[in-house]
Amino acid sequence: MTKAPDHPVSRSDTRADKLDREAVGAALLAWYDANARTLPWRVPPERSRAGQLPDPYHVWLSEVMLQQTGVTAVIPYFTAFLHRWPTIDALAAADEREVMAAWAGLGYYARARNLVRCARQVVAEHGGRFPEEEAALLALPGIGPYTAAAIRAIAFGKPAVVVDGNVERVMARLLAVETPLPAAKGELRALAAAFTPTSRPGDHAQALMDLGATLCTPLAPACGACPLRSHCRARMKGIAARLPQRERRRARPTRHGSAFVARRADGALLLERRPPEGLLGGMLAFPTTPWSPERPEADPPLAADWRRLEGEVRHVFTHFALHLDVLVARLPPGTEAPEGLFFLPAGAFRATDLPSLMRKVWRLARPAFEEQAQRP
Ligand code: ADE
Repeated sequence: MTKAPDHPVSRSDTRADKLDREAVGAALLAWYDANARTLPWRVPPERSRAGQLPDPYHVWLSEVMLQQTGVTAVIPYFTAFLHRWPTIDALAAADEREVMAAWAGLGYYARARNLVRCARQVVAEHGGRFPEEEAALLALPGIGPYTAAAIRAIAFGKPAVVVDGNVERVMARLLAVETPLPAAKGELRALAAAFTPTSRPGDHAQALMDLGATLCTPLAPACGACPLRSHCRARMKGIAARLPQRERRRARPTRHGSAFVARRADGALLLERRPPEGLLGGMLAFPTTPWSPERPEADPPLAADWRRLEGEVRHVFTHFALHLDVLVARLPPGTEAPEGLFFLPAGAFRATDLPSLMRKVWRLARPAFEEQAQRP
């Protein structure tokens, strides 16, 4: 059987034609049937073979969480979200600040803001059911081509082409594509399209992801155990571990700043909510100076007896590394928060509501308060 040409035939398709696509697809699915990871958003293969599809809400939530974060980190967040907001209607009705707090630690906080917006839009415009058409999915906040394809394939059984880093790596190796990424992206997508089946496309996509995560791994692929080993061009050429090639990434620059942790005599902490757009947007945070290539002057948010702590906090964002000095101060009773900041009562403060960077700041600052409390 050849797949219906629902995409233009390109040089890459021709390359894929040279492999037996049907044999590759069958070997992949047989492997998945026996080895699929058990993940809380999945319908296991024995049930999906019988035609059962997972809840689109679960698929969407998991795919948004998995966009920049690994499976192991995502599982507890996914489970907690479903427990707290079991349906899209429940999530649409949630307080955005509570969703941000539940997302804290996962990073890329624009995803959480878009999550609530998307849930509200699905409820308002689609009666609480995710649409199946690509254009309608792409019109929803936070849903790009990858997520739309994943939802269509996994939740609706459509032959959408799902391409993430795992799929790119498997394709690059299977066809020995030596063009470096990102230039190779178009070619790898065309190959992924050529292999996308009309039967069980969701399992096919997840099988490629599992293969990429467990055997066809970036550094030391376990080619001996791979269900595609007899088809894999890179393995035949002995170059699997070197693929995909990548243009050398530019070095990550470092930015510097100071974070200010102030505790009032009643235990309340001085915090801000970060502006909605930009890094850590919408998250709870300790106030900081701007983050600059040159260390900026430590200009505190209010006058107090600030003490700079030994050590610093280091955190890596996608495009830069951040080094923060941490300054602490005890504030007298009745101190009022400066504009844009607020005091959070001790009983309402949970470090787990903070993004990872701010948890690190708190970890450094906290003992300073405990020491001070013990002083006579
Ligand atoms: N990464 C992104 N989506 C995934 C999925 N559905 N299963 C496993 N890993 C994934």
